[in-house]
Amino acid sequence: MKEFDVEQFLSHYWQQKPVVLRGFFEDFKDPIDEHDLAGLAQEEEIDSRLLSFVSSDSVADGTGEWKVHQGPIHDFEAVCEGAWTLLVQSVDRYVHDVADVIEPFRFLPNWRLDDLMVSFATKNAGVGAHIDQYDVFLVQGKGQRRWRVGEPGQYKEVFPHPKLRQIEGFDPIIDEVLNPGDVLYIPPGWPHDGRALEDCLTYSVGFRAPETAQLADSLSLMLETSDINLRFTDAGRRLSTSSAMVEPNDISTLKQQLIAAINSDDFTHALLESLSEQGLPEYPPEHLYTDKQIAVGFEEGIEFAPAPGVRALITSGKDKATDEATEETGQTASSLIDSYFYVNGERFSFNREDEAWVQLLVNNELLYVNLLPDPPSFAFLATLTTLINKGYWEWIEA
Ligand code: SIN
Ligand code: CO
Repeated sequence: MKEFDVEQFLSHYWQQKPVVLRGFFEDFKDPIDEHDLAGLAQEEEIDSRLLSFVSSDSVADGTGEWKVHQGPIHDFEAVCEGAWTLLVQSVDRYVHDVADVIEPFRFLPNWRLDDLMVSFATKNAGVGAHIDQYDVFLVQGKGQRRWRVGEPGQYKEVFPHPKLRQIEGFDPIIDEVLNPGDVLYIPPGWPHDGRALEDCLTYSVGFRAPETAQLADSLSLMLETSDINLRFTDAGRRLSTSSAMVEPNDISTLKQQLIAAINSDDFTHALLESLSEQGLPEYPPEHLYTDKQIAVGFEEGIEFAPAPGVRALITSGKDKATDEATEETGQTASSLIDSYFYVNGERFSFNREDEAWVQLLVNNELLYVNLLPDPPSFAFLATLTTLINKGYWEWIEA
């Protein structure tokens, strides 16, 4: 990778403005090709789409018909007409080697990363002008593609096909041809349109950001089972000014009830579980491993690695906001948060003595016995067994 100033990118561009990063990948080699992509699009559980635009006549006046075929796609000959794009979602879960495309963007935390979508477009193809709600790094693979990006604004939405949300048009502030290894970063809300100048591959490293409603869902889901689902009380109530009046004091007590739930350890867990959710299906190994088998394998030097696309989360305990809230409310400080890590919506506990091993595990390091001077505890290896039996981590055969 070419020298890239991460600090400068974060302070000047991230979530602020689009930028073309020329030669971001030096000598970019596609880790996948259109045939691999077509293979993935045939799978039932993989999310794929094929979009085509068939011009109405031989005169290139821009009129024609858009078609959308949702995967799985079996008969490519029938659907690949005109200028077409095949898009496959979450390729990072299925193809080990695409991890190298995501790697340079790991300066952004796992919980913000969504997935890697890969598209193959034929000459003149594109998905039309549109606006995404997410940050994206568009990595140019083989071929050339012309990208235009406009400023955020009120644009008229059009649906040239019921499954296709586009905008009518925009004035570009970026209009550039990307070559293999170039990257275009686009923040949410900036209209864009990419047109293939020849057969080309595009890798979209996409990010997610929760809406308040989503956070509130985690809160209410947690409260359904938690004993901190307290009920409002008002002993010592003062006489109201009228029976219709909800006193401001009542409103702040009600809000405080919610704030106390938000500041609980239970909600921190719920939040981290939800942020770690990747919708990964469990792929258990053919034969489930026992804790003992994993411990013996580990001792004998077997290596263990995360399955493609698995991204764990961990936190370091209290943050400043919780500290301040704790001071105000006088509640005891949160204590247990830093003994857990989270994978695909699940929480896993660990002993403090295994901290160094856990840090390596959640950072996707290859684990093997001599990696650290002190071996992990049996409890750590039992957790590793659970991760392996869920298909989140893998036993690497020599
Ligand atoms: C594409 O890869 O064709 C579309 C990417 C995007 O505009 O978000
Ligand atoms: Co887009």
